[in-house]
Amino acid sequence: MARILGGITTSHIPAVGNAIAKNLQDDPYWKPFFDGYPKIHAWIKEQKPDVVINIYNDHGLGFFLDRMPTFAIGAAHEYRNEDEGWGIPELDPFPGAPELSWHIIESMVSDEFDITSCQELPVDHGFTVPMQLFWPGAPHNPDMPRAIPISANTVQHPIPTLKRALDFGKALRKAVLSYPEDIKVVVLGTGGLSHQLDGQRAGFINKEFDLYCLENIVSNPEVLTEISRLELVEKAGAQGTEFLMWMMMRGALGDDVTELTRNYHIPISNTAAGTLLLECA
Ligand code: DHB
Ligand code: FE
Repeated sequence: MARILGGITTSHIPAVGNAIAKNLQDDPYWKPFFDGYPKIHAWIKEQKPDVVINIYNDHGLGFFLDRMPTFAIGAAHEYRNEDEGWGIPELDPFPGAPELSWHIIESMVSDEFDITSCQELPVDHGFTVPMQLFWPGAPHNPDMPRAIPISANTVQHPIPTLKRALDFGKALRKAVLSYPEDIKVVVLGTGGLSHQLDGQRAGFINKEFDLYCLENIVSNPEVLTEISRLELVEKAGAQGTEFLMWMMMRGALGDDVTELTRNYHIPISNTAAGTLLLECA
């Protein structure tokens, strides 16, 4: 049967993609951010996942405001990247795992989650930057597992509630664990932590709230479901709603997790950058 090894979260800021393209990892601005990743690289090398489920939010490349699925799951043989206008070099396609994608879609629709299944899905920086952070050289790192992108709407209101995001993760866990092949799966939650890119509060960051979320997502994610969506926008910023991805990831890990490493650094571009590695029992 399939196993979930653990979950990893990271911010997915486009400027990070540019820093990687220009090899700026040791630059004084970037070093405190990139220092959060070597422990994660070591864990990945040791654990050797076969498939990565990359939970991210599309920002307008795969979906636009005219058609916005609340939850979308990739079911393609490969996922193309395209120029989004951030100046990041376009990457080669990422290989998919469509047989597991369809198993997950079947299971989750049976569990009454309304899924948009995508046999074609261009992936943006929310997906690609974390892949490059965790598997340097991606998509040409030979250790990089096949990928399943899952995108939730954090762009156009109404967005899902934090409870729905956590419940989505729980149903995803049930789906993966019922897959008959002996494969090892790692789940990513990308985006966040607090940031706002537009309007009068552009540049808004809330360290106190971020640390509250970082603490509770490990040991008490249920308490975070009490945060309303309005409160999330108020406390995390308009784009801090990307914390929903972290909730989805956390739901997929089950009750018994161990925190192996954590990094928090402000700011990177306009964002409070948070990284977390949680191992499943
Ligand atoms: C930034 C952060 C994001 O999450 C994003 O999707 C785009 C830009 C930023 O801080 O620059
Ligand atoms: Fe984003």
